Amino acid sequence: SGVERLGDMIAEAKTIVPFTGAGISTECGIPDFRSPGGIWTRYRPIEFGEFVASQEARDESWRRRFAMDEVFAAAKPGRGHRALASLYRAGKIPAIITQNIDNLHQASGFAAEHVIELHGNTTFAKCIGCGQAYQLGWVKRRFDDDGAAPNCTVCNEPVKTATISFGQMMPEDEMQRATELSQHCDLFIAIGSSLVVWPAAGFPMMAKNSGAGLVIINREPTEQDDIADLVIRHDIGETLGPFVGN
Ligand code: OAD
Ligand code: ZN
Repeated sequence: SGVERLGDMIAEAKTIVPFTGAGISTECGIPDFRSPGGIWTRYRPIEFGEFVASQEARDESWRRRFAMDEVFAAAKPGRGHRALASLYRAGKIPAIITQNIDNLHQASGFAAEHVIELHGNTTFAKCIGCGQAYQLGWVKRRFDDDGAAPNCTVCNEPVKTATISFGQMMPEDEMQRATELSQHCDLFIAIGSSLVVWPAAGFPMMAKNSGAGLVIINREPTEQDDIADLVIRHDIGETLGPFVGN
């Protein structure tokens, strides 16, 4: 079966690089983007340019984030996260590339410096001008007191979740590190991503082109199934559950 073949590929590989998307966190209660009920079936994305240009867009963006507070606070690592953390502890995974912003790979046991967050992190905020970090609690208090999303106390530019929006620059250092990892692994496993958002979606293809085996685990077909060595079109928790604790 696919899972047996995956087990063999994992056993044979020396260096495995996982690449995760929102599908690994749905069993943790966090909705993905493009499945029925996903974020982009409920909301239109607020692009970076709109966030910069409009107080109204910033207020709406923060209202959406605050509405998710309890979901993010309650979320615990799922079977997929825990399986990857086990392989990391076993020395098979040097670092993980993720599009996720939920901090669950760190919560599962990955050292922060081994989680390459291509789209940032929603558990804290940053000034878009000077990069000053803010706790979400501070933003919430200012929002409640002033009735509007706050600006930076240092430089007066808008404060945003530390995530990457459409239209925003990708983080340079993370892109560089993800490139190097993709080019120097023998097994690359894409997990729970529709692989439609670029440049992130370029990494599975880059790994394959550099000679790595490519596995795609996703309930629905993805854009890159045709170049994969193994496609497992099945639930992530069930597929990776057997690797927890190995
Ligand atoms: P998507 O919502 O596009 O894709 C998630 C995939 O996971 C879907 O194809 C689902 O079928 C699959 N899935 C969900 N739950 C699953 C489960 N339990 N088992 C197996 N498969 C499951 O999310 P991403 O690909 O992560 O970026 O989205 C990429 C980027 O688009 C995000 O990082 C975000 C978004 O816009 C930005 O906003 C910049
Ligand atoms: Zn600032």
